[in-house]
Amino acid sequence: MNDKVALSPEAQAGSHCPPAKYETLYRHSLEDSDGFWRDQARRIDWVREPSVIGNWSFDPVDIKWYEDGVLNLCYNCVDRHLPARADQKALIWEGDEPGVVRSLTYAELHGQVVRMAHCLKAAGVSRGDRVTLYLPMILEAAVAMLACARIGAVHSVVFGGFSPDALRGRIEDCESRFVITADGGMRGGKLVPLKANVDAALEDGPRVDAVLVIRHLGNEVASTGRDIWYDPEAWADAGELPCEPMGAEDPLFILYTSGSTGKPKGVLHTTGGYAVWTAATFHFVFDYREGEIFWCTADVGWVTGHSYIVYGPLANGATTLMYEGVPNHPDFGRFWDMIDRHQVNIFYTAPTAIRALMREGDDPVKAHNRASLRLLGSVGEPINPEAWRWYHQVVGDGRCPIVDTWWQTETGGIMITTLPGAHDMKPGSAGLPFFGVVPELVDAEGVVLPGAASGNLCITRSWPGQMRTVYGDHERFVQTYFSTYKGKYFTGDGCRRDEDGFYWITGRVDDVLNVSGHRLGTAEVESALVSHPLVAEAAVVGYPHDIKGQGIYCYVTLLAGEEPSNGLEQALRQHVRKEIGPIATPDHLQFTPALPKTRSGKIMRRILRKIAHNEHDALGDTSTLADPSLVDSLIEGRRNP
Ligand code: WT7
Repeated sequence: MNDKVALSPEAQAGSHCPPAKYETLYRHSLEDSDGFWRDQARRIDWVREPSVIGNWSFDPVDIKWYEDGVLNLCYNCVDRHLPARADQKALIWEGDEPGVVRSLTYAELHGQVVRMAHCLKAAGVSRGDRVTLYLPMILEAAVAMLACARIGAVHSVVFGGFSPDALRGRIEDCESRFVITADGGMRGGKLVPLKANVDAALEDGPRVDAVLVIRHLGNEVASTGRDIWYDPEAWADAGELPCEPMGAEDPLFILYTSGSTGKPKGVLHTTGGYAVWTAATFHFVFDYREGEIFWCTADVGWVTGHSYIVYGPLANGATTLMYEGVPNHPDFGRFWDMIDRHQVNIFYTAPTAIRALMREGDDPVKAHNRASLRLLGSVGEPINPEAWRWYHQVVGDGRCPIVDTWWQTETGGIMITTLPGAHDMKPGSAGLPFFGVVPELVDAEGVVLPGAASGNLCITRSWPGQMRTVYGDHERFVQTYFSTYKGKYFTGDGCRRDEDGFYWITGRVDDVLNVSGHRLGTAEVESALVSHPLVAEAAVVGYPHDIKGQGIYCYVTLLAGEEPSNGLEQALRQHVRKEIGPIATPDHLQFTPALPKTRSGKIMRRILRKIAHNEHDALGDTSTLADPSLVDSLIEGRRNP
């Protein structure tokens, strides 16, 4: 299990961070944190350089970095590259259909961002306003994010796979008065009706001042009085629009993510610390070299897309590739075909995609040359060693190091990973802490576990990319992350540290599911189920799934007098899709006359989890159940995943 895969000499050649340098820098980052992060802040061009570096406390919770610094992140991602990189490609885009390609040089990106910024201003968007983006994976998604950053507006990107209801909740929560969407998007040959979804979300719902609609597919869509059809040409002669000077602690974006309780939280990231964190992690972790093509397959609706399609790469003056579609369209060779056609050097994807492609065998991979690849990355969930080895041996021909990057929406950027020039790798382990990151393992009581141990993963010190608050609910921020173990940031993940100090993430220890790398709260799926008129109660747990990592298993109790049926099962599935989106579709639905509860009425999820995992012999103590006989009927009614 602890077998190391050594870095090849080729992998180490020219690296930004050989082993000794990692040791020195890591030590420096702990012993002189302010000095270290002052140095790293030089990756960014400041309007006013910060004199205060870290100023934070986890008890009481108050986090600031570079607080008196002034900067603009759009300037750092676009304008400052113009003297040296005007004609270098900043973004390359490939559509859902192979070979449909567009790109923007840094000069062109600048032009597009300025035009959209003009349009946003004319629509009434001012500094500090929230703007909701609900877009396909198109160049305009990156342009819109940068245009918001340019004028100091706070973007809130909502993944295009979320339903109108989910979109409405996210517009309401941050009181966003502006939405940017597109007529539609294409994924695997299927049209995603984004504009129609926006109209549905806004029906009888939140009042917004304007919906900016980008023409992407040119399909027929309904218009309303609040729509502004975006025409970049109309702004071609509007002239320069200078970047708004922002305080380092001014909000940059909100991104909603699921927790173990209640509605999704608006994770708030601010400008200066996030800029430094994404710029530094991109540089070191992907060991980015001048002229290379970087491809991260995430959607900009997730934090991975924010940090490693848009901000991290562009802050480094890189060329970043965006892909509209899915890994298996038109066939399972699509990724490898694109890698060859675009000569991709660094490829960053998720274990769920790797497993799905691995299942198709080696032929679709070997049909392509992949010689341009230098480095491979993985993110989103633990990667099983079998998938890791396939990725390494077959996709990377054994040549390319793999970085298995552990992080979260909340962390802003990568936290634990090996560095490609510095460390040997262990398949299945994320590796070692990035500079400034101090992980700690604790047991359920909060006792710190030294050395090789397994426990709950906390981070003891702040880092510049850390989220600052839950939008509109600072108390929830404190409660969620800093109250379980006082004075520490609790990640919600379980983890093992081995004798070499390598970290092995074992998955969430709270009621958060990771389904195909998408984060979902069991509570969200439960509340979607109980919002159906025939459902009395529901309990949702995860179970191991070969491709998705985790599948969604739902136990449902109907109102008295209602009978389970296949039709109702289908209706409930549909209902959850409508409430949240296709990513939350239940894999298994088991009707049960009651849920197992303690005498005080608490649902015993442990038992439900064991039954869903098919571990009936390891149910543990069931004597505290109000009705122990229920267990047999639950086992009997179990659906075979
Ligand atoms: C959760 C965060 C990080 C961007 C994408 C997901 C899991 C993430 C890894 C990894 C094991 C991982 C954790 C974490 N996770 N990366 N390399 N190895 N687990 O961001 O939606 O905020 O989810 O994803 O459980 O807590 P997210």
